Amino acid sequence: MLQETGIPPLAAQAFPRSGGLLSCEQVPLTDLVSRWGTPLYVYSAGAIRERFAELDGALAPVPHLIAYSVKANGNLGVLRTLAAMGAGADIVSGGELHRALMAGIPADRIMFSGVGKTVHELAAGLNAGIKAFNVESEGELCALSDLACAMGMRAPVALRVNPDIDTPTPHAYTRTGHAATKFGIAAARARSLYNIAAKMPGIRVRGIDVHIGSQILEVGPFRQALEYVLDLAYHLRQSEVELEFLDLGGGLGISYEGGDRISAADWAAEIVPAVAETGLQLVVEPGRFLVGEAGALLTRVLYVKEGGGKRFVITDAGMNDLIRPSHYSGWHAVEPVEAAGRERGRVDVVGPICETGDFLALDREMEVPRPGELLAIMTVGAYGFSMSSQYNQRTRPAEVLVDGKEATLVRRRETLDDLVAAEIGL
Ligand SMILES: Cc1ncc(COP(=O)(O)O)c(C=O)c1O
Repeated sequence: MLQETGIPPLAAQAFPRSGGLLSCEQVPLTDLVSRWGTPLYVYSAGAIRERFAELDGALAPVPHLIAYSVKANGNLGVLRTLAAMGAGADIVSGGELHRALMAGIPADRIMFSGVGKTVHELAAGLNAGIKAFNVESEGELCALSDLACAMGMRAPVALRVNPDIDTPTPHAYTRTGHAATKFGIAAARARSLYNIAAKMPGIRVRGIDVHIGSQILEVGPFRQALEYVLDLAYHLRQSEVELEFLDLGGGLGISYEGGDRISAADWAAEIVPAVAETGLQLVVEPGRFLVGEAGALLTRVLYVKEGGGKRFVITDAGMNDLIRPSHYSGWHAVEPVEAAGRERGRVDVVGPICETGDFLALDREMEVPRPGELLAIMTVGAYGFSMSSQYNQRTRPAEVLVDGKEATLVRRRETLDDLVAAEIGL
């Protein structure tokens, strides 16, 4: 349901408005800005826990592992919050492995996904003792077997299969389950490659993995992917390839505009009974679902100007801080931090970067802000900071984790020295 504020339900709960002033949990956003400035990412620990508990409860009828997809938001404070709830991690690089382990996520709850793992990354995963590598090609399988043999080990493996499902996601870049993408092992090749893998000296087959895309709001495509996986599992049993888990990836969609999101209960109702019949563990790799609605980006309005029949609200946050609007045509609610009840109008909310594609919201009807006022860009907990850059030599924002009345700075704002710290030989 659309909330009065235009903010999706969980976000509205995590970022309540009282007397016109927006807070995160019990901390007014103006207090956070006074302490740490703008642009500032703010996350609600309570909202993250609530989402995790919802999914965990829905999966309770089967043995399961919620392997949080670190790429959505790898801040150590966020990872520790999830680790304390019993989350594992879905990682795609040596860097994410490092973060997950630092945050206290046990290695045997870590899934290593990704289409292009280097030998160094494979070795790091083996040394750490992760739960499984989601292998995406025959080349990777051979490299992993050779490496594991050389290290005197056997690598735990699931093959990521590509079920050739054309998933309805809001943007083509987030569809990963159809045959023409770079992801996974072609459906037609999967069975024979499993039989080869089962005989490789450095490989121990443990599961099947699929991930069909991101921000999926219907249960149907997940069900279709599961049917493919169940059929494959049946045939592998016939050829005596033993399995321990089925990994159905991530992709559960959230509400950006206040409309319906996918509910964990509806999703589980379609998936869990069939998985229960196999007796196998169910692994899921949600990212956005757990953290997306739990985050806001606070930014200050620098200038307001008119031109070409448009009104531009120029903010101190840009596409380097939040790239979703420009990269995925992502829509985010833009809220005044202190509602003044002023005239509404159509504006483009744009950043300071030298690109026409640098915007946070286009043609948006909202209370027209004045220079110096604060805006909150909502639902940016996933693929917000984690996709940020220093483009235009901008220092990346600070990040704050709020838990009830407590606000903790979990990443300091970068400094000018940080911008040049890795450059040498000058
Ligand atoms: C392999 C894999 N698993 C999980 C995810 C998480 O997706 P989401 O954040 O939509 O849940 C991704 C996202 O790209 C992915 O590539």
